[in-house]
This record gives sequence, C-alpha cells and structure tokens, in this order.
Amino acid sequence: MPGPFRARHFFFKPKFLLAEKFLMTSKKFKKNILCIGAGYVGGPTMTIIANKCPDYKVTVVDISAERIDAWNSDKLPIFEPGLLERVLSVRGKNLFFSTEIDLGIDEADIIFVSVNTPTKMFGEGAGKAVDLQFIEQTARRIKNNSKSNKIVVEKSTLPVRAAEALATILHSGDNSVEFEILSNPEFMAEGTGVSDMENPDRILIGSKDTKSGVAARDVLMDIYLHWVPKERLITTNLWSSELSKLVANAVLAQRISSINTIASLCEVTEADVTEVSRAIGLDSRIGPKFLNAGPGFGGSCFRKDILNLVYLCEYYQLNEVAAFWEQVVSINDYQMERYVKRILQAMFNTLVGKKLAVFGFAFKPDTGDTRDAPAIYICKRLLEEKACLKITDPYALDNARKDLQLTEGKKEFLEDPYEAVEGVHAIALITEWSSYKNLDYQKIFEKMEKPAFIFDGRNCLDHQTLYEIGFNVYPVGKPELSHL
Ligand code: UDX
Ligand code: UDX
Repeated sequence: MPGPFRARHFFFKPKFLLAEKFLMTSKKFKKNILCIGAGYVGGPTMTIIANKCPDYKVTVVDISAERIDAWNSDKLPIFEPGLLERVLSVRGKNLFFSTEIDLGIDEADIIFVSVNTPTKMFGEGAGKAVDLQFIEQTARRIKNNSKSNKIVVEKSTLPVRAAEALATILHSGDNSVEFEILSNPEFMAEGTGVSDMENPDRILIGSKDTKSGVAARDVLMDIYLHWVPKERLITTNLWSSELSKLVANAVLAQRISSINTIASLCEVTEADVTEVSRAIGLDSRIGPKFLNAGPGFGGSCFRKDILNLVYLCEYYQLNEVAAFWEQVVSINDYQMERYVKRILQAMFNTLVGKKLAVFGFAFKPDTGDTRDAPAIYICKRLLEEKACLKITDPYALDNARKDLQLTEGKKEFLEDPYEAVEGVHAIALITEWSSYKNLDYQKIFEKMEKPAFIFDGRNCLDHQTLYEIGFNVYPVGKPELSHL
C-alpha cells in the first residue's frame, strides 16, 4: 500500500468507527461535554478540561474534516507548547475529535460554542462589527438536534447581549427543550495557552440571575473546580461577562499602543523606552506586563475585539468613547508604518533590489499563528518598496507563504536563519523567538553585504555587542548605534 494512504489509514479512523466508539464510551461518564469549533480556542481548552476531568467525556467537533483529521493525528493543526503531550494522554479515553456534529449535540449535556467570530467584511458594520453568521448557524444546528435540555456556553468572543440573540434562536419554534446560556470567555494567550489554562488568573462565568441560570452556572463551576481554586472563579451577569472579554483585550492592547507612542518620543529625545517601561512598571499600580514596545501588536483578537468595542459604542451613539478606543488601533497601524519608515530612512531612502532577511513572521513567539501579524503588513510594505525578502521563522513559514501569496515581489521562505542572511543588506527582526538571541552574529555579519543593518523590532538582542561586531543597530524606542 502506498505510504500516504497507510499513514492516513493509521491515524484517521473511518467515520462509522468513530461514531461507534462515541456511542460506546458515552455511558460511563458523569456528563458529556461537546465543543463546537476545533480551533485555537476550542481544541486546547477542551484538551485541558479532558485532562483535568477524567469523569467527563469531552468531544470536540468541527465542520472541517481536515482540522479534525489533524487533531486525530500526531501533527496537531496548531502548535502550542505542551499541547501534544496532553492530547496524547487523553485522546480516545475521554477526549474525542469528530465531524459528527449532530450526533454530538444530541448526546451532550453541556455545549461550548467556540466557532470563529471574525470581523464582518460586508454590509452594515463592515470592518468593525462581528460577523455572527457562524454563531447563528451553530445555534440553529443545536436547536434542530436537541432532544434533551442543555447548557450552552459562549466561549467565542461575542458582542454584548449576544446571549439574548442566541437564546431567542434556541427557543424559537415548537421545540420544548430548555436551553440555559452561559458566557465563559477564554483568556488564554497563544504560546502560553497550556499554562494559562492549567493555572488561570481567573475563570469568568456569566449567567442569568434566575434559579435555572444559577443552577447551570454551578454545573460549569463543577468542571473548573476540578483544578481551579474556588476564589479564582468569578461570577457575573451575562452582559458583564461578554463585555469583560472585549475590555480585557482592549486594555491590554491599549497598554501596548501607549508604550509604542512613547517609543517614538524616545527615538527623538535619546530616552530609552526599555528604561522608561521598567521605571513605570515598577509602580505597583501600573505593573510591568504588556509594556514592551515593538513593531505593533498582532493576533486574532486585539484588533478584532477593539473594533467590535468601537462598533458597539458607535451603535449606542457614544462617539467620543468609540474614538478613544479606535485610536488604539490607529496607533498600532502608525507603529507598523514607522518601523518600515525607519528601515527605509536608515538604508538611504531606497530598498530597490536590496535583500532583507526577515527574522520571525508569527504574531508572537511559540506559535505558528500569523493572524493579523505585524509581519504581514511590514513585509507587504517592504515588497512594495521593491526589497527582496528572505523570510525565516521556526513554525510559521507555511502560514507566511499563504499570507504573501498574492503579494507581488521577490520573496523566499527559509527554515535556516543562517541561510536567510546570505548576501542580505539588512535583518528585520519582527518576532522575538528565543533562538534568535543565541545566533552567532559574528558569523551572520560576515555573510552579509556591508554596511550591515539590523532593525531589532523587539529590542531582544544585545545591541552593544552587535554594534561592536560592525552592525548598524536600530532598536525600537532608543537611539540607533550607527557607524555611518
Ligand atoms: C476563537 C473564538 O472562538 C473567537 O471568537 C475568538 O475571538 C478568537 O478565538 P479561534 O479558535 O481562534 O476563535 O478560531 P479558529 O481557530 O478559526 O477556530 C474556529 C473553528 O470553528 C474552525 O475550526 C472552524 O472550522 C469551526 N467552525 C466554524 C465550525 O465548526 N462551525 C461553524 O459553523 C464555523
Ligand atoms: C490575547 C490576550 O492576551 C488573551 O488574554 C486573549 O485570550 C487572546 O488575545 P494573544 O493574542 O494570544 O492573547 O497574545 P498576547 O500575548 O496578548 O500578544 C498579542 C500581541 O501583542 C502580540 O503581537 C505581541 O507581540 C504583542 N505584545 C504583547 C507587544 O507588542 N508588547 C507587549 O508588551 C506584549
């Protein structure tokens, strides 16, 4: 039998076998949990729940057979440190990945909805509002396949009062089944997802303040109490919970935009943004986290959630409030453009035909995710300036290829950073992978064209040493170290 078929056959059980196993195993568990959406949130969250709650059966379903196949293989669809081990320890025992969505709904006591909620790109609210079509389709599917009462948990990030719409759809028609809706937003960050979930700062559960609402909330609390101390479980009303998720991301992003504005001021005043961050972060009222200047924030959540917040404020005619939060996104755009301009200006105002090595494409280290990564914008701009790019990243090259496939210009994708620097005029470091700190920069310098430039977008390298090697060093938010 040819290799690829054997591998597929070995990893992926035929559908009828999965369904059979699904039914066979469902009897011995305390409760059946279903998660709809096997993405960056659904997959890892359910893996941790299954690890911590061996008495619950956890099934993750998705409309994408390819995603489910990957979750059932040894090459998971997402890279997250520590995740594969945790999947392997429970998969087939109390954790199942399947495309049998309707069967899963029928069998479930608790349904987590973890489908994606992208920014709407058409019609009313285009570019800001959340596109709720997947949520609505999922709600209808739950309604049509439920024969017993269920708790439906919003895990996806949703606009405030989305639970109301969800409840209306679920209770429409002549179905006598009762649904109780909870909001339980996920606060894990990529790259640290496993530890964030195993040791969360808090778990937030929003419910209605009715007898059935409180009872449903207690059922969900029972799951988390398997490993989370009671004092870290926070309960609120549904709307506060939905809004808190948006606000958490907006406030984190706002800190980054704030320090990035100060970085631009540092560059012209000879102040050093790292020193400023440290000085203000030691004030316990401010705290040290999320004060690292960089090329701008990325990821699937920050921009989307702030724009959602802006849209909500505009909807309620709170225009000044909307303008305040929108500025966080504008400053981020400005920061990415500033990084490109600094490269252009330092390199004699032309990049035509020059080779640049791009170190890091993922939106942050320890993930292969490139959704809304600053590298996408920055690379597109550099290509527009007719630079030739040699892009390297430990995990994100497949996504980088897709992100830039429609962009004209010369680009190569190389696993090995030493290969990427061969004959280049400059290095643009966009993602602070720890491996980049330990490269042999003397060797790299020798492989490069002179004068050699390095634009450390994350301030993660030893600038003085690089300067002494011979590089012209351009950090973010501090004066350059230049031989020119
Ligand atoms: C999550 C949240 O759900 C989102 O609201 C939050 O703001 C960001 O994180 P994420 O897990 O990152 O989304 O999204 P993604 O990796 O795209 O996964 C969503 C999954 O849902 C996909 O695998 C998709 O195939 C699946 N899906 C989508 C369904 O199973 N049914 C649908 O109707 C739509
Ligand atoms: C974020 C939230 O942190 C998490 O709680 C939520 O559930 C999902 O959204 P995530 O996007 O995975 O998590 O990563 P995060 O660590 O927040 O980083 C987001 C972006 O901000 C990255 O591009 C990162 O490089 C950037 N960042 C972060 C900075 O530029 N400076 C900082 O000081 C911190």
